[in-house]
Amino acid sequence: MRFTIASVATVLIGAVAVLATPVPKYTGCSLSSVPFPKESFVDPNNSSNTLPYPAANEKLAKIVLGYGSQNYSCIDGTPTPNGAVATLYDLSCAFAVSPEWADVLTRGAVQMDPTAQLAGIQMLKNMFNAQFIAGVHYFKGDFATPAFEFTDKGKFIGGVAGKIPALSGADAGKRPDNFGAVPSLRLAPKQGMGSTYSTIYRLHTAGGSAPPAKCSWQGQRQIPYAAQYWVYKST
Ligand SMILES: *[C@@H]1O[C@H](CO)[C@@H](O)[C@H](O)[C@H]1NC(C)=O
Ligand SMILES: *[C@@H]1O[C@H](CO)[C@@H](O)[C@H](O)[C@H]1NC(C)=O
Ligand SMILES: *[C@@H]1O[C@H](CO)[C@@H](O)[C@H](O)[C@H]1NC(C)=O
Repeated sequence: MRFTIASVATVLIGAVAVLATPVPKYTGCSLSSVPFPKESFVDPNNSSNTLPYPAANEKLAKIVLGYGSQNYSCIDGTPTPNGAVATLYDLSCAFAVSPEWADVLTRGAVQMDPTAQLAGIQMLKNMFNAQFIAGVHYFKGDFATPAFEFTDKGKFIGGVAGKIPALSGADAGKRPDNFGAVPSLRLAPKQGMGSTYSTIYRLHTAGGSAPPAKCSWQGQRQIPYAAQYWVYKST
């Protein structure tokens, strides 16, 4: 399936039509009936290797689609992670239709031309006056400290606290950078850095992996990726 602005717009508009509420909503839909994605917490090749579940006192606060690039430098012939940057989009109303719609959007995002994608989001924003952009994801200078800043002023600054391979059948990425989907992750906040959320999971990844071979490029290589970030808050 080819993903174009039109197909993604159709999905979003289809989503909206299904949500035949008195006032159609495009962002900020309730997450209370989103099913917990158990299969995303299990290593597809080793069922005893799992990501820890959210704690009983943690409540699902947001699901956003992250689209951007995983960056790599070539150090001594080895591709070495060098941060990442992504725009975060509100996925709550896609989930209000079904997790499958949300997955189509996540897979579709990584296949889109970045310029076309921004134009598409702008078009949807203008058509519906909906603010799909929910924040940004980037790394602090040490490349081991993922940070999230949300448009509602919420933030999260943390580190990796659990990792399993991507779901089986995950989208390998956008050609010619289709080197596989980055792992699923559990992120925990770093103390004293002002996080307003307690855990973030990176799930349903698409693309973003480094080229597998030894490298010889100069500077940085940016590999497109997309993922769902499930954001939990302690209550
Ligand atoms: C999981 O197993 C499949 C089939 O044996 C293999 O193709 C795939 O590379 C494995 N994935 C990981 C992450 O090891
Ligand atoms: C499967 O995962 C468990 C838990 O992480 C680990 O102890 C075990 O060695 C893994 N098995 C294989 C075959 O890798
Ligand atoms: C990663 O690449 C993006 C372009 O996709 C760039 O804007 C960003 O500054 C890079 N991040 C780092 C940490 O180098």
